[in-house]
Amino acid sequence: MSIGKASVRDAEVEGRRVLVRADLNVPLEQGPGGAEVGDDTRIRASLPTIRSLLERGASVVLVSHLGRPKGADPELSMAPVAARLGELLGAEVPLAPGVVGDDVEAAAERLQPGQVLLLENSRFEPGETEDDPELAAGLARLAELYVNDAFGAAHRAHATTRGVASLLPSCAGLLLEREVEELTRVRDHPEPPLVVVLGGAKVTDKIGVIERFLGSADEIVIGGAMCFSFFKAEGRDTGESLLDEDSVEAARELLPRAERAKARLHLPEDLVLGREFSAETEVQELNGVDVPEGWMGLDIGFNTAVNYAKLIGAAGTVLWNGPMGAFELEPFAAGTRAVAEAVAAAPGHTVVGGGDSAAAMARFGLAGRVDWLSTGGGASLELLEGAELPGVEALTDA
Ligand code: 3PG
Repeated sequence: MSIGKASVRDAEVEGRRVLVRADLNVPLEQGPGGAEVGDDTRIRASLPTIRSLLERGASVVLVSHLGRPKGADPELSMAPVAARLGELLGAEVPLAPGVVGDDVEAAAERLQPGQVLLLENSRFEPGETEDDPELAAGLARLAELYVNDAFGAAHRAHATTRGVASLLPSCAGLLLEREVEELTRVRDHPEPPLVVVLGGAKVTDKIGVIERFLGSADEIVIGGAMCFSFFKAEGRDTGESLLDEDSVEAARELLPRAERAKARLHLPEDLVLGREFSAETEVQELNGVDVPEGWMGLDIGFNTAVNYAKLIGAAGTVLWNGPMGAFELEPFAAGTRAVAEAVAAAPGHTVVGGGDSAAAMARFGLAGRVDWLSTGGGASLELLEGAELPGVEALTDA
């Protein structure tokens, strides 16, 4: 399937300098020698495009945002990313002294074919999130071709994702292409039955996805703290469970629509409760969903997990986004583990999106066992809702 955009595969790149926008927005942690990359999944996912360009005789100017800095916050420098990328590529990756400007242009001009220069955090420039034309022009001066491989940031209309694309010949990178293909296929041409498994804290984050799939999926399966918004809307007791008031309203509107929809909406029938959000807390299994006072729901229960796993096993296509409970705490990990194992074992086509579900697959040693593990959080949800992604739209048509 083509995404309808020019592809880096077909670009003439030999001897050319190429600006590559990647999503290298990775978690950082404190190591013995300072900040280090915590999870390098997104860096690894960007390697095929970078390697393909280098092998074909291009030089690469790489740019990404990291976190949401207010100005040039040294704690969000790309230096740890440059170090990790250098290890993965087997060659040092120098960090530019900024995002644009004379010094950065001089560093870009010194690049030889086969070399990479990483720019500083694009959000150090206030013009980035405003899609400032001057910043876009400064970026365009760094290269002769623009490749967008940052699927995770494709829902942002920023200078590095949209503005610069109109100033240089542009095309899609290999990761962005595959992400759009995989998620569009689940959205528009899933092999039935389609089972959509949604978790996480807030209904409001996933409302567009629920609305979209109410009309097209066969089963929508809900877990995670978002189920308490539905239970509250049904007038049930939710105890001390995590509850987002806006999500209760959204759930109240969705419930009657779900009754008339094609998809069957499944909510948990039992829960695992704790006194507090801690691995050491007192734990209770609740056969039902009315949470007593002084307790909070922290996982789906055994029967719910068995049912959800059965639905996943019978699916032609499974889309999973959001954990079933507080899986980072061992007493409340069973529901998410059961779903992760069911997804890994499912004979149907399986697609997992969102950082938490991807982290769950990794934690249970199942990351390699899905057909597609998306690197996009907000971007994957927006694509699934049917929204246009500015970072994709801005690229040259095929
Ligand atoms: C993400 O982590 O989802 C992307 O990198 C986008 O980050 P943002 O939500 O800060 O724009």
